[in-house]
Amino acid sequence: MKPREMRPGVYWVGAIDWERRLFDAMIPLPDGTSYNAYLVRGSEKTALIDTVDPSTSAVLAGHLDTLRVEKIDYVIANHAEQDHSGSLPYVLNRFPEAKVLVTPRGKDMLHDLLMLPPDRVITVNDRETVSLGDRTLEFIHAPWVHWPETMLTYLKEERILFTCDFFGSHLATSDLYARDERLAYEEAKRYYAEIMMPFHVNIQRHLERIKEYSVDMIAPSHGPVYDHPAFVLEAYRSWVADPPKNIVVLPYVTMHGTTRKIVDYLNSALMDRGVTVKLFELTSTDIGKLAMAMVEAATLVVATPMVQAGLHPHAAFAVFLTNIIRPKLKFVSLVGSYGWGGRMDEQAKAMLSSIKVEFLPPVICKGLPTETDFKALDSLAETIAQKHKENGFT
Ligand code: FEO
Repeated sequence: MKPREMRPGVYWVGAIDWERRLFDAMIPLPDGTSYNAYLVRGSEKTALIDTVDPSTSAVLAGHLDTLRVEKIDYVIANHAEQDHSGSLPYVLNRFPEAKVLVTPRGKDMLHDLLMLPPDRVITVNDRETVSLGDRTLEFIHAPWVHWPETMLTYLKEERILFTCDFFGSHLATSDLYARDERLAYEEAKRYYAEIMMPFHVNIQRHLERIKEYSVDMIAPSHGPVYDHPAFVLEAYRSWVADPPKNIVVLPYVTMHGTTRKIVDYLNSALMDRGVTVKLFELTSTDIGKLAMAMVEAATLVVATPMVQAGLHPHAAFAVFLTNIIRPKLKFVSLVGSYGWGGRMDEQAKAMLSSIKVEFLPPVICKGLPTETDFKALDSLAETIAQKHKENGFT
């Protein structure tokens, strides 16, 4: 495929990865992904903004051939993770005069991860600018979207903000721009849930800073470019800042059907009280969808049988994942069943050390649920519904 011109002299020169199905050996990519790199030609100098995953270096090379790029002065490394930085060694080898521009922390990371020679790397300060002649790049340090070294790059004259992972989506598409708004929203939300949600406090701060800039286009390094960026900016604002909704996320695993009985009863009891419930069967679920459900949920209830005195491993994974992605949940509980004994509720609490939540009394049944257990499930459903109401979660 050919490079795609976004503005005169500004090109998308990335790679679309239609086949990739897993990221970080963990995150499902049902719709593939892309590694977006951008070439900016000024009257005096040329800059490449980010590179591509090293598995697709040849695609980037082809774009640079097509555009007859003979000299690159600057390679902007917004983020040191290898899906964007991994082709830097190729680019630096091909363009021996090119210098990498990066945050101070990014310089160390590029050395650690890629062994880039320090004399090829120049650090830039927050708000520092570099001139390409008739075009200017401004660097905006944005730590923790996704790593501590991350920055954004603003092309002043064209009002394009290059955001790397921030506002990205794992979506392989032939469209350069986000045209199907519903699809773009879903994919951006999945990406936010899986990658960005742990950093929602930092993101809120960065969203405020971006307001200082006039932005006509947001060009992330995964997925489509937003040429009407208000849509994705508002989506992020809502995910980060709006109160959680009247939603219970209920991931469950069952071995002999007992926990499933408990789940069915609790689901029904919550629905009867006007609470939206999102169920996920943990042996088969797409964990990206589970993460997405937690973007707006007020409560998580994990349902699990006890295995060797603790959580079933699938339930333990769901709890561990929750602790990593740090959603804005307010309440957590546990339901399930056991044969002889254990303290899986204590185990779950200990695993959720990174999120501030109120733990609601668990309902752990000995064997099949009894009348007393069903009453306890009713009571849990009532407590959740009341708490959502008292907090204005609608
Ligand atoms: Fe797309 Fe954090 O790398």
